[in-house]
Amino acid sequence: MFNRRNFIQKIGGAAGALAFAPYLSSSLVASLEAAKKRMLGMSLEACAKDEDFWRLIQQAYSVAPTPMNLNNGGVSPQPKVVQEAFERYNRMSNQGPSYYMWRILDMGREPLREHLANMAGCDKEEIAINRNASEALETIIFGMRLEKGDEVILSKQDYPNMINAWKQREQRDGIVLKWLDFDLPMEDDDLIVGLYEKAFSAKTKVVHITHMISWTGQILPAKKIVDVARKRGIVSVVDAAHSFAQLHFKIHDIGPDYLGVSLHKWLCAPFGTGMLYVKKSNIKNLWPLFANGEPEKDDIRKFESLGTRSFAAEHAIEQAINFHEYIGAERKQARLFYLKDYWSTKAKKEVPGIHFHTSFKAAYSCGICTVSFDGLDIQKVANALYGGPHKIHTGIVKQDKLRGIRISPNVYTLERDLDILVDELKRCVLALREK
Ligand SMILES: Cc1ncc(COP(=O)(O)O)c(C=O)c1O
Repeated sequence: MFNRRNFIQKIGGAAGALAFAPYLSSSLVASLEAAKKRMLGMSLEACAKDEDFWRLIQQAYSVAPTPMNLNNGGVSPQPKVVQEAFERYNRMSNQGPSYYMWRILDMGREPLREHLANMAGCDKEEIAINRNASEALETIIFGMRLEKGDEVILSKQDYPNMINAWKQREQRDGIVLKWLDFDLPMEDDDLIVGLYEKAFSAKTKVVHITHMISWTGQILPAKKIVDVARKRGIVSVVDAAHSFAQLHFKIHDIGPDYLGVSLHKWLCAPFGTGMLYVKKSNIKNLWPLFANGEPEKDDIRKFESLGTRSFAAEHAIEQAINFHEYIGAERKQARLFYLKDYWSTKAKKEVPGIHFHTSFKAAYSCGICTVSFDGLDIQKVANALYGGPHKIHTGIVKQDKLRGIRISPNVYTLERDLDILVDELKRCVLALREK
């Protein structure tokens, strides 16, 4: 059936480049507009490899060539249109903060909620806008009604802030934490789901699932885990800090009870923006982390009593969604996967003693990849990369027994940047081996 939303999903987003016309140069807008039209007839694979298109995307950012930023997984830069929106709203706020923030900008929160919900694939009454994934997930972790002896299943590979929040509940409330410990990478859904199922018991009340694991970019089959948990009456919490806007998915495709997201990672929204999803039927019973006058109300807005924060950052999320929709979520995922595949295939051939801790399969990975090197201290390799002419900035992973360098390009990264990465990896590894 034809309708506007289906059509928009097919062409990969509603936003045309003309929406950016007041904020980018007219020649860049014209080129982006023409490129978008050209993309419509192309397969995702062809789009992912089209350097001419991605060079235009790079021009829509203000990233400097050095240091070469390959740690977008930590936090991503914003396209110029997002920075401009942030600055515009910030200037407006400074004309009279309490008037402009609370009487003017606050009015824009509901349309933003709707736009975010459309993009995320859920009802707008299930979305609260906040400051980061930690805040979203800790609202869930501390807000759930659990009793002494109730069990929570989580993994050693979950994110430290979330692990610490659960440990605090263990210490404070006497809940019981049961830990999974993964051998990454994993490429078998049945095996992964089986590990969770084996840990479930009659006392299990909650399963905490990291959709994409920070350390290596491992994707877990979140929907399958949510489904087996629900069959046993176990509630699911999904940490989608890395998967949201890196992978093309809708929250309702996974069907979790709760989910938390960083918007300053792969959506490239302003720093200090995040989103909380609570399934409609769970809102009433989840306590807000920041007290609200009606804490047991069935209204998602009770999770937004955060006090004064940056309204400029919040409102500029809108332009980040527009930019994301202009690229198209599927196209973005295809490009990020392609970039990972491009440099890792080359590095496998050219860098002696390199080990990959990330899967090469699209079901289990996307743009993030973590590597280590036979007999070499990864901190020394990372220092050598940064100490070289291109000042390559990477993520350093020291998690339990895993040691690695995490490479996470973004949509503004070009093949030529990754050619430099592989050359530099080779140079640094050989130089360190000679010492
Ligand atoms: C899996 C995961 N969850 C949560 C977070 C926390 O995100 P934020 O800094 O937005 O709170 C991170 C940050 O890297 C992460 O990787």
